[in-house]
Amino acid sequence: MDLIISSGAPITGTIQPGGKITLPGDKSLSHRAALFSALAMGQSCIGNFLVAGVTQAMLEALSALGVSWDLTGATLVVKGQGLSGLHSPTYPINCGNSATTLRLLAGALAAAGVPAELDGSPGLRRRPMQRIVEPLQKMGVTITASPQGTAPLLLSGRPAGQRLHAIEYSLPVASAQVKSCLLLAALAADGPTTLNEPGPSRDHTERMLRSMGVDVVTRRGTSYETRLIPPEPRVLNPLLIELPGDISAAAFLVVAALITPGSDITLKGVGLNPDRTGLLDALDSMGGNIQVTSLSERNGEPVGDVRVWYSRLMGTQISGPLVVRMIDEFPALAVAAICAEGITTVSDAIELRTKESDRISALCLELRKLGVQATETTDGFFIRGGQPVIGGVVQAHGDHRLAMALAVAGLAAQAPVTVQGAEIIHESFPGFTNTFQALGAPLIIKQ
Ligand code: S3P
Repeated sequence: MDLIISSGAPITGTIQPGGKITLPGDKSLSHRAALFSALAMGQSCIGNFLVAGVTQAMLEALSALGVSWDLTGATLVVKGQGLSGLHSPTYPINCGNSATTLRLLAGALAAAGVPAELDGSPGLRRRPMQRIVEPLQKMGVTITASPQGTAPLLLSGRPAGQRLHAIEYSLPVASAQVKSCLLLAALAADGPTTLNEPGPSRDHTERMLRSMGVDVVTRRGTSYETRLIPPEPRVLNPLLIELPGDISAAAFLVVAALITPGSDITLKGVGLNPDRTGLLDALDSMGGNIQVTSLSERNGEPVGDVRVWYSRLMGTQISGPLVVRMIDEFPALAVAAICAEGITTVSDAIELRTKESDRISALCLELRKLGVQATETTDGFFIRGGQPVIGGVVQAHGDHRLAMALAVAGLAAQAPVTVQGAEIIHESFPGFTNTFQALGAPLIIKQ
């Protein structure tokens, strides 16, 4: 599928939860809510669940593990069977393109002590898995990866009632997926597990497990420490939860409104976990007009409305802990940067090379095809903004966020931008095209 987008029309309107145009439910929270519900004892109900490719992978995996669930619209009901209630699958579990599915499942299977093979698409097979294998092995899990440290992963079973070892472990990179995998395994450990990270990775797992009755303590200062004390008895309470809109999907709408003259949009019910709002801070430092109102808390997660309108942007510098707080938002940020006066520099972001694509290389390569001055560095990139964007044909590289960012770049181009391979957007934001069209963006699909 090709997506063709041209400049010219402002985007205006309000996106309401439950309204005609909806923001998809948060991806990270959808994964966690589905999986943690399967591990709880009893029935959970999850509203505004993200119905998309990546979460389909998680739901199919749960079926393979003997968990029953029902999805009606965006409401997911899961019948939890307890921490050791997962069944061994009869075939390798296909996690598709979803690293969150694979890494979190590895932790849950380790806790359950169930043998399984976890695999995925060729793209997922390129993602680094040694980062979970090594600490899980320290906990006493029998798990192996391919010689390259990638999927498929093979987990062996454990005799019923045998505990894993509690560990103190420092993660080499700040990663919520690694942390979450280990916290899930820690639910079956013989004492408290303490994890240290070099940066503030999203704490959704901690907040959700707390709401299910688990004692998880977070300490933030010069280091980032998470300590989980396994519940006694080993039972998680079911969830009754309405998920907020995904700020990582909202990011594309926010940047589109900022760069398109005359735009003014309001996004309602957006998840505003402080570990996820780095892009809003970065755009603020660039002079972006962004207003957050109606802040409240839903199931332990901050939620609010975000109004954003056209702004004259300036270049900025992004490094350090801010990088982790906007780890998925660099494709969107790059589009703001091409419309900003001066240079935007990103550093300390080598992790971007391990995402759905090598997001440093692929992003710079494709933006250059549109006439943008984008230069790759080892751990980031810089973009000289305020120059004409000429338009042209670009590739998605099998990366949903790259595809969406390139489409948004079309709003600033002199000639239309065609994004090839844009069907990958369905992985996280199936309503992307409809949402932009409904707000007035000149965007067409060519099958
Ligand atoms: C996620 C964590 C991040 C992020 C991914 C979702 C999560 O990955 O990039 O899209 O839900 O925990 P890392 O933990 O690998 O940084």
